[in-house]
Amino acid sequence: MMSTLPEANQTYGTKDYWISRFNQENVYEWLVDYQQLKAHLAENINQDDTILILGCGNSLLGEKLYNDGYRMIISMDYCENVVGNMSLHCDSCKSINWLTMDATNMTIKDNCIDVVLEKATIDTFLVGEKNLWSLSPSSIEKVDKTLSEISRLLKPDGKFISLSFNQPHFRGKLYSNDKYDWRIKSIDTIGVNFHHYLYVIQKGLSQTESADYYVYQPPAITTIKSEETIEEREENDIFAINLDN
Ligand SMILES: C[S@@+](CC[C@H](N)C(=O)[O-])C[C@H]1O[C@@H](n2cnc3c(N)ncnc32)[C@H](O)[C@@H]1O
Repeated sequence: MMSTLPEANQTYGTKDYWISRFNQENVYEWLVDYQQLKAHLAENINQDDTILILGCGNSLLGEKLYNDGYRMIISMDYCENVVGNMSLHCDSCKSINWLTMDATNMTIKDNCIDVVLEKATIDTFLVGEKNLWSLSPSSIEKVDKTLSEISRLLKPDGKFISLSFNQPHFRGKLYSNDKYDWRIKSIDTIGVNFHHYLYVIQKGLSQTESADYYVYQPPAITTIKSEETIEEREENDIFAINLDN
């Protein structure tokens, strides 16, 4: 078991951290376990689909899916040690295909995967960000390379299913770019006290089939003149609206 939390959040974004963690820890499940996802996944994945788990870590998601009847599973991570450990973790694990590779540059051919499944992997790309309304160019580039890779290897009606702690007004913006040739089909909230968001994204989906979600805007920075009361200011704002535009 890992006994200490890293000093800074951005540590979760480094490969060295994960390699050292996987040398000490056998199994850990990020965000939610299979039981909490099972019904949502069954709605969106057929048992004969080819499923790619992106950044599998030492989660039991792959083996639980296999034991539930999903037989075409590829499980990948960029840490060779965790891929080696998990491939020997159970009997069913021997029937899963294990690959060591980077999500930003995957050695899988085009149009051959039905479902790409990721849980908290893309979250680690953003752990160093101070302001999710305005991401750094390096994070944008890393997410974009990964999403482009996912889009490339998905079949024409393939799905990308992503579980994240990032709310739709942050993650929706990253996922709904026309260049990936997909649309968001649904966003479900999972969890009672602490919410996680399950994004189901599908290639070739029409605009009318896609999900609506509220796009919050970054909070505006306003200054209030010292002699103006808040009530006066709000009234002034209403009068300031130009109805001709
Ligand atoms: C927060 S853990 C989530 C692990 C697992 N998906 C789960 O739900 O428990 C993030 C995982 O992503 C992997 N990872 C991070 N960046 C990656 C990359 N560029 N390519 C492949 N795997 C990556 C890490 O090694 C780690 O296993």
